[in-house]
Amino acid sequence: MSSSNATLLSIESVNAHHGQLPAVRNVSLQVRQGDVVALVGANGAGKTTLLRTVAGAHRASSGTVRWEGADITRMPAHQRVAEGLALVPEGRRLFTAMTVRENLLVARAAGRRGLWSFDTVLDAFPQLVPKLDARAGDLSGGQQQAVAIGRALMTNPRLLLLDEVSLGLSPLAVQGVYDALRGVTGQGTTLVLVEQDLQRVQAVASRIVCMLEGRVVADAPADQLTREQITAHYFGAQRPGAAADASAVPAEAAAHTHHLHKEAA
Ligand SMILES: Nc1ncnc2c1ncn2[C@@H]1O[C@H](COP(=O)(O)OP(=O)(O)O)[C@@H](O)[C@H]1O
Ligand SMILES: [Mg+2]
Repeated sequence: MSSSNATLLSIESVNAHHGQLPAVRNVSLQVRQGDVVALVGANGAGKTTLLRTVAGAHRASSGTVRWEGADITRMPAHQRVAEGLALVPEGRRLFTAMTVRENLLVARAAGRRGLWSFDTVLDAFPQLVPKLDARAGDLSGGQQQAVAIGRALMTNPRLLLLDEVSLGLSPLAVQGVYDALRGVTGQGTTLVLVEQDLQRVQAVASRIVCMLEGRVVADAPADQLTREQITAHYFGAQRPGAAADASAVPAEAAAHTHHLHKEAA
């Protein structure tokens, strides 16, 4: 989408810690309406901590998170949901003993009114219709991920944060999730997603942000970063001033990324 769109989320010099450990270091990032931002980086780079900090599930130790210009750094998570910010956390966290129907309906009260309703969520995830009365815990991984995303959509988010939604899913289930996400962005919902599959990232993202050891080391339109450049950023091979030549990427770095992805799958 056009970069002239309004800024929805602005992350300004944010730091976040786990105890003494700095997990997010001086991150600044803007997300505009209509963006599909892919956040990539090796395990431990700080992606989850950053998303949780934006969602209000983790406290920023310093810096500012703005939502449409307003400072929400200290706003409780549930209030951010009501403002239109929803997180699908790593590992889904469904109410496994509740039915699919209950998982979806319980989210309705938390959010805003809007296009997404029980019916439109089921339109986007038709695979859930025959499963409405099944316990969420009895579903396949792909179906559970559909419930997790559907539950977040029930709050009518303007910005949906998705943390590794394809983790542990079969290729077919991943395809199903991304097909549904296309419908979500088609309805004008802005996305920030963490995804290990770089091919997928390049197919869906309008912008790619690379994190390394808590820092943002690259932030560019998706069509301006090659897979080799992204891979290099994964491992810090690409320092400012270093040659942007893809052939400079060590072969073992590319192999390692592949390995990481396999591990994650
Ligand atoms: N609950 C936690 N307690 C302590 N350290 C954590 C916790 N979660 C993450 N970390 C550490 O914070 C850093 C960033 O982790 P995380 O945000 O999960 O990265 P990513 O999602 O990119 O894999 C890592 O060094 C990780 O070990
Ligand atoms: Mg993570």
